[in-house]
Amino acid sequence: MTFTLRYMTLHDVPQVAAIDRASFDLPWSERSYAYEVAESSYSYMAALEAVTIRQAKGWLRWLSAWNGSQRALEHLVVGFGGLWNVGDEAHISTIAVHPAWRGRGLGEILLAGMIRRSLALRAGFVALEVRVSNAVAQNLYRKYEFQVVGVKQRYYRNNDEDAYDMRLDLTDEAAVARFDQRLAALQARQPFIDRYSGGDRPRQTS
Ligand SMILES: CC(C)(COP(=O)(O)OP(=O)(O)OC[C@H]1O[C@@H](n2cnc3c(N)ncnc32)[C@H](O)[C@@H]1OP(=O)(O)O)[C@@H](O)C(=O)NCCC(=O)NCCS
Repeated sequence: MTFTLRYMTLHDVPQVAAIDRASFDLPWSERSYAYEVAESSYSYMAALEAVTIRQAKGWLRWLSAWNGSQRALEHLVVGFGGLWNVGDEAHISTIAVHPAWRGRGLGEILLAGMIRRSLALRAGFVALEVRVSNAVAQNLYRKYEFQVVGVKQRYYRNNDEDAYDMRLDLTDEAAVARFDQRLAALQARQPFIDRYSGGDRPRQTS
C-alpha cells in the first residue's frame, strides 16, 4: 500500500464530501469544496490517497488471466485537509480521515503536510479552531505543539459549542527543528509520498 499526499482535484470532491459527511455535524457542500479547489486564491486543499492492489473477481478474473494481469490498482481518497493563507496567517480550515482508516498516522500526515506547506508559504503561525469536546483532534494538535490561545464562545452553530483557538508559532526555530524530527519519525512509521507541501499549487479548471 502506498500513501500519497497531493493537491485535491475537482475529481476528488465527491469522495472528500462523503468523508466530510461521515466526520462532521456541519459538513461542507460539494460546491464549497469545488470553490476551494478551483476558485479561491487563498486555499491549499490537500488529499491523501491510498493506492491498493485489487484482486480481480468473477469473470473479470477470467478476463484479466486471459490478458495476463490478475490485479488492478485502486486509488482511494482516505483523508483530506484545507489550508488558507492570508498574510502572516496559515489557517487550517478542515481536516478529516475516513473512519475506516483512522488510527494509522494518516491524520498526522495531513497535519504535518499542511504545517510544511505553511512553512513554504513563509507564514508566521498556523491557526485553527477545534470543538472543546474533540479530545482526539486536540491530542493530534498538541502532539505538534499547537497551544490554546483563546476560546471562541458558541462557535459551532448546530449546538452552540465553544471552540478552542489553537496556534503554532512558526517563527520559533527550535520548535521548527522539533517539527522536522517529528516528521522524520512519522515518515519512518508510516511512509508516504509528499507531492503537496513543496510543489506549486496546480491550476484547476472546472
Ligand atoms: C482527528 C483525526 C483527523 C485524526 O486522524 P487519525 O488518522 O485517526 O489520527 P492519527 O492516527 O494520525 O493519530 C495522531 C494523533 O492523534 C491523536 N489520536 C488519534 N486517535 C486517537 C484516539 N482514538 N484517542 C486519543 N487520541 C487520538 C493521538 O495524539 C495520535 O498520536 P499517537 O499515535 O502518537 O498517540 C480523525 O480522528 C478524524 O477525522 N476525526 C473526525 C474529524 C475531526 O474531528 N477533525 C478535526 C476537526 S478540528
